[in-house]
Amino acid sequence: MELPKHPHHSLFIFVFGLVLVFPSALSWKDAVTHVHQFVIQEASVKRLCKTQHVMTVNGMYPGPTLEIKNGDTLSVKVINKGKYNVTIHWHGVRQMRTGWADGPEFVTQCPIRPGGSYTYRFTVRGQEGTLWWHAHSSWLRATVYGALLIQPREGTNFPFAKPDRQSTLLLGEWWNANPVDVVREATRTGAAPNISDAYTINGQPGDLYNCSTQDTVVVPISSGETNLLRVVNSAMNQPLFFTIANHKFTVVGADASYVKPFTTSVLMLGPGQTTDVLISGDQPAGRYYMAARAYQSAQNAPFDNTTTTAILEYKSAACSSDPIMPRLPAFNDTPTVTAFSTSFRSRERALVPAQIDESLFFTVGLGLNNCPPNFNGTRFTASMNNVSFSLPSNFSLLQAHIQGIRGVFTSDFPAAPPRVFDYTGNVSRSLWQPATGTKLYRLKYGSRVQVVLQDTSIVTPENHPIHLHGYDFYIIAEGFGNYNPKTDSSKFNLVDPPLRNTAAVPVGGWAVIRFVADNPGVWLMHCHLDVHITWGLAMAFLVEDGVGKLEAIEPPPEDLPICS
Ligand code: C2O
Repeated sequence: MELPKHPHHSLFIFVFGLVLVFPSALSWKDAVTHVHQFVIQEASVKRLCKTQHVMTVNGMYPGPTLEIKNGDTLSVKVINKGKYNVTIHWHGVRQMRTGWADGPEFVTQCPIRPGGSYTYRFTVRGQEGTLWWHAHSSWLRATVYGALLIQPREGTNFPFAKPDRQSTLLLGEWWNANPVDVVREATRTGAAPNISDAYTINGQPGDLYNCSTQDTVVVPISSGETNLLRVVNSAMNQPLFFTIANHKFTVVGADASYVKPFTTSVLMLGPGQTTDVLISGDQPAGRYYMAARAYQSAQNAPFDNTTTTAILEYKSAACSSDPIMPRLPAFNDTPTVTAFSTSFRSRERALVPAQIDESLFFTVGLGLNNCPPNFNGTRFTASMNNVSFSLPSNFSLLQAHIQGIRGVFTSDFPAAPPRVFDYTGNVSRSLWQPATGTKLYRLKYGSRVQVVLQDTSIVTPENHPIHLHGYDFYIIAEGFGNYNPKTDSSKFNLVDPPLRNTAAVPVGGWAVIRFVADNPGVWLMHCHLDVHITWGLAMAFLVEDGVGKLEAIEPPPEDLPICS
């Protein structure tokens, strides 16, 4: 997408609708409030030769791109004209003291009922790069999602030469079915949900699928240009490799934080993650495929093994030439993933806490329940520290916390697994069944927190993209096997670790994250493979208010949906 020029302090029309921009009361010079309306509505979308009726924002699939500057405020009125409950989550936005606008259903709000509406109002500050928004209710995010681009604020620049062009690439996943029906069927049977029928780039499967070639996305480039590509993995359940034929990437940012530039020919993004890269128009004028396909770390599990493509097209290229196809890593190429994920460093010296107040150890993994049995005798489940997370239905967790409503959750989420075992070894079947609970972990305002995220081999080890709401965290180390506090702490990078909102925990391995609990509220942490959230791979932190108004969550907005 070309960058629209923003006439400031005036009314202007965006490609996707009416947008009002006016100066806000913020102290930041030139900060503005962007007002949008998101109408959740059904639309017919034809892909792979078939028409599906899917939920959309404003009839668009993917939904509208929001573009702001660091320091700006967003005010998005969501009107639900669809038939399902819905909420919108602003993935990666810190939501300092505005937890009511975070969006996960039954965590920070009750869902917006059909016919209802809710205005999300929040300021984005200290974050630059690419984030995104998506529905956070059932599997609606399969089609209800879009990009959130945060440009450098007025009077500041990128920490690299200004790119000649910027393009956003949302990687998605498409079913020849209603995604809500896909998850409902899985929940009924206890089996894994049907795999998707296609991956997509900006909603289009591309040239390698039936009935798709005429709509393949074309990304323009001119010879000699340097372009910024903002890549987002918005797929439901699949980590993805992404590459472009004959072009190298210089990675400059991830999850709306800048990183020390490094070059690579392939990216891997877990669902939820974003990566900003520069590419140069330094190849013979022509057409080159950009392609994404699965990184599949779980063994013996069915997955969508198709490949989505878009075309990088030099302006001067003859449109008839066949695009060149890149080589993609093998589906199980974990060494490539490790080489990529361990290349990230924050650009500046990191403000990572050197001392910690809370040392937490969370197992993340799958499980099997014997009861209630399905036709196979077992049902899939998932857990953190052997607790399979279940959402309340009568109050949101945040409302229950702020209003002191008892019986909605307990504050006894364990700081360590209830039983120590060989997490990545051959785990006894007696440890495969987690307990269900709505357990939160309480944090004092300002506490310095370390969490070891440890994959388990229960059912199968797998790379889990673990996302924390309301925070960015430093990933100070990662490795394979069982985390060993005696030897592995020597690997900690406390100098320039990357700041992320989603960590791809290595398959059969671990990652260590640190953050300072400076944002009061209730914050969900979960695997961003939606099938795993459905099965309970989640928990939530309750961060208490600190001292005074500026260390306390704001009061709830008047139109906050309640459960009733
Ligand atoms: Cu991208 Cu809980 O979400």
